[in-house]
Amino acid sequence: MRILNFGSLNIDYVYQVDHFVQPGETMSAQSLRIQCGGKGLNQSVALARAGVETWHAGLIGPEGRFLKETLDQAGVHTRFVEEREGSTGHAIIQVTPDGQNSILLHDGANGRVTPDFVAAVLAHFGPGDALLLQNETSATADIIQEAVRRGLRVAMNAAPADEKLAGLPLEYLTWLLVNEVEGAFLAGTEDPAAILDTLTARYPETTVVLTLGSQGSAAARGGQRVRVPARQVSVVDTTGAGDTFTGYFLRRALEGGSLEDALALATAASALAVSRPGAAASVPDYEEVLSTC
Ligand code: RIB
Repeated sequence: MRILNFGSLNIDYVYQVDHFVQPGETMSAQSLRIQCGGKGLNQSVALARAGVETWHAGLIGPEGRFLKETLDQAGVHTRFVEEREGSTGHAIIQVTPDGQNSILLHDGANGRVTPDFVAAVLAHFGPGDALLLQNETSATADIIQEAVRRGLRVAMNAAPADEKLAGLPLEYLTWLLVNEVEGAFLAGTEDPAAILDTLTARYPETTVVLTLGSQGSAAARGGQRVRVPARQVSVVDTTGAGDTFTGYFLRRALEGGSLEDALALATAASALAVSRPGAAASVPDYEEVLSTC
């Protein structure tokens, strides 16, 4: 089983701050770390560390070569990570003492994914393969449609929530993964049970996974509902925790595990990720995750 992750690659500028900067405020950060990120890259690292054969497709600018090297080092196939003129995607991330974050994105090369590039990459994949995408690149509708046309099962982490998301053909997804903000955006309600009811009614063929931070996670498929509590851990940095969750959830789901098993494994992995700093750097290995289960 191979998975192709058509996803973003970002340089993360991570500022440790006392509090998120307020409108009109000028504030000094306590420290700056420059590191690998992008929901796409983080999720590829998570899939690879979870033991899944992972292929990444995406675009970088020249200053983003170290992102491709990081994927290589994680064991991700990078034949379809290509370089374009212009800037690499980046994120400005503030992290507070309680580990919460706020993220400002610039898409850079992630916004230069074209339907032609999508078709050229997907020509190498077919039935038996799976595809993962997020909402941080251009041509997302083309990625979904081309993957489905070629017989792949498609998972989408619908993050971040913005107007582009509402127009996507989400009815083709096998798995839709959202947090409470993205779920509320798509469903038009903030109540977790109502989010699951609304989205499963709208997408009857899709397994919907809802992460709820300290409230744990839930999943729904048709009339089935599963809920798993969060683990109590000391939070250092939540950046990339959702990406770790996505990679580990898919590891179990792709091998045919139950919804409850997939949520439990993903919960254990993301509990480790939030207890250490960084995004891709915080993703644990499969053996380490299993040792906590
Ligand atoms: O999910 C965390 C990621 O979101 C960061 O690495 C940042 O690059 C943004 O894509």
